[in-house]
Amino acid sequence: MTFVPRPDDIYIVSYPRSGTTWLQMILYQLVGNGDFDFTHISEVVPFFERSLRAGHNLNCLNSPRLFKTHYPYARLPKQGRYIYVQRDGRDVLLSYFCFYRSHLGYVGSFDQFFERFLRGQVGYGSWFNHVARWRQHAAHTNCLWLCYEDLVQDLRPCLSKIADFCGQSIPAQRYATTIERCSFEFMKEHEDRFDHTTAVLRELGLSYGKFIRKGQVGTWRDQLTAEQNARFQNNVRFTSELGAS
Ligand code: A3P
Repeated sequence: MTFVPRPDDIYIVSYPRSGTTWLQMILYQLVGNGDFDFTHISEVVPFFERSLRAGHNLNCLNSPRLFKTHYPYARLPKQGRYIYVQRDGRDVLLSYFCFYRSHLGYVGSFDQFFERFLRGQVGYGSWFNHVARWRQHAAHTNCLWLCYEDLVQDLRPCLSKIADFCGQSIPAQRYATTIERCSFEFMKEHEDRFDHTTAVLRELGLSYGKFIRKGQVGTWRDQLTAEQNARFQNNVRFTSELGAS
């Protein structure tokens, strides 16, 4: 099935563990249909690259279509709008490590994962390059740049930014419902609608719940050594000076 891009498509873009699922829910509640009937969020906000690989027909979805993607800019259709969510890479690293252990069978230590992450030897490659390359498109009118930390600090003004970017005027009630349903507590309570693994294990009567984990800012401080932090920051500087080659 050939994918036909539309100018009003909205791509939620991120490096994994940056708050992508949260943004899927926010966009769906705010400017999408806004119901809570779906079994899994990917039914209403598909994972772009995975859906294409699976041969799903994305052309039958109503506009504006919402997609989640971790692709670099170069791999996405050039029609459409992009909402990039960036998160402090050190929190991404820790969250990704936990995810690797809980979902991908990783048995290595944090220190080993740290080295892999710095070398970009993880799913979707280097976080440093992903952010730096997308940064080059941040000022485009069809790109909205959001920070996970701002969303955590105060969601309401971020919702207004999103609504403006999508060119939609949103009734006050929609804002209220969105804030309620996108809270960490609400999404955690309904975690099986956001994580396939949780859904399967819940069906088997087993507890799980490690996809929506802590939802906090700065937890890297409990994990990274001062030396690891310095190396991480050096990498950030190096990548931005190099202009993400
Ligand atoms: P933590 O592991 O630090 O808790 P992604 O969806 O890109 O994989 O990102 C996952 C991260 O987003 C996890 O971070 C998860 O807890 C956090 N997250 C998911 N829903 C959230 C919400 N409603 N509020 C704050 N953080 C949320």
